[in-house]
Amino acid sequence: MGDSERESDRGSTATASPGPSRSGDSVVFEEKSGTVTLHLVFTQKNDRNAGLFRAGKVFEAFEAKLLHLESRAARRCKKMPSDELEFFMQCEVHSSDTDTFINALRRVADEVRLLQDDRVPWFPRKISDLDKCTHVITKYDPDMDQDHPGFSDPEYRKRRAFISELAFSYKHGEPLPYVEYTPEEVATWRDVYRTLNSIYPTHACRQFLDGLQQLEKECGYGEDKIPQLSDVSSFLKEKTGFQLRPAMGLLSARDFLASLAFRVFQCTQYIRHSSSPMHSPEPDCCHELLGHIPMLTDKEFAQFSQEIGLASLGASDEDIEKLSTLYWFTVEFGLCKQNGTVKAYGAGLLSSYGELKYALSNEPQYKPFIPAETAVQSYQDQTYQPIYFVSQSFEDATNKMRQYSSSIQKPFSTRYDPYTCSMEILDEPAKIQNVLGQMREELKILHGALERLGQRRA
Ligand SMILES: [Fe+2]
Repeated sequence: MGDSERESDRGSTATASPGPSRSGDSVVFEEKSGTVTLHLVFTQKNDRNAGLFRAGKVFEAFEAKLLHLESRAARRCKKMPSDELEFFMQCEVHSSDTDTFINALRRVADEVRLLQDDRVPWFPRKISDLDKCTHVITKYDPDMDQDHPGFSDPEYRKRRAFISELAFSYKHGEPLPYVEYTPEEVATWRDVYRTLNSIYPTHACRQFLDGLQQLEKECGYGEDKIPQLSDVSSFLKEKTGFQLRPAMGLLSARDFLASLAFRVFQCTQYIRHSSSPMHSPEPDCCHELLGHIPMLTDKEFAQFSQEIGLASLGASDEDIEKLSTLYWFTVEFGLCKQNGTVKAYGAGLLSSYGELKYALSNEPQYKPFIPAETAVQSYQDQTYQPIYFVSQSFEDATNKMRQYSSSIQKPFSTRYDPYTCSMEILDEPAKIQNVLGQMREELKILHGALERLGQRRA
């Protein structure tokens, strides 16, 4: 499998689809044949294993069905003890038992919160709201995954945890964390960089090669140094308006996609284990910096990435799963035609020597990128993909994505306001009128520019 990650947490497995695509802090009650679905957040400060066990007993006593469970370090404030955990649970109970069930849980937990009922899943409205979009899927990290090459290396796990902690503490607007990489980490990077660079000229798409060349020339990319997120973020901002924020690990699809809507790319900073430079079961800085960043220097690709993000805001869990599958087959494993040949643009491919060679061999099957069909294609996150989707161009892919997005059922439309870095909800005629006014002003600028050109030629 590629070192690519199942990062977007796509779908079917916990990540496979939008990872644990949690429904956000919302959608809470759904009446269904005498049962209700509850969305709860449950906190354990001390003795959390025993607390969780006692919560299990409550579930058993009430015959409650656990539909979904996620955990994360509690982050209500920075001073919280680092071992405090928060659990997000979706469960089904008999409607008549609701109150007593919640009260019983409250007796075994430090805190139980019932999430608000609001039918449209919560989504970030302003860029600083991305501080809340940091839910991690721990399935592939070295503390949870026995197949992770760093699983039995306590020093590696400690180092990874230290770097993840920098992302955990990060808040929008703060300087991006600086990581002083060790000589061993740089050696791993060098190995990956050299190996992949040897096949980029024949396998990578033009936009990727152009982007990488610019990064080498203007942003210090090279084999001898792992680029810092702050340098890369400033560079990207000038090129396409994308910026980076540090990520603790593999994020839930909903959170990861939401950040794309703001042209923010969430990036891990730790590096894969040195024993396995060509493979990482989770995203790491080689995957982000080599696979994703060169593509994000391209304006059309940046637009395409943002389109997927915008489509995800307020979408149902089912639509998030489809969007993350689309993300998987494009941004992670996408191929495109260039001058009659097929080239790679997906980061999962461009950060995995083995899968990049395989994807452009005669072995896999190719299909044209048609969002409605791609969105329901099952994918493979344990080995190479048997099928890849080929786009005619990014412009074509973006248009198709836009069309697909308009078919997603939502009670409103959103528009990103780049001046305020916020999401405008177009749910009133006056708001739509206002946007039309701004567009008229922009058309006037274009009209004026055309007139000037005409005068110069005359
Ligand atoms: Fe990725």
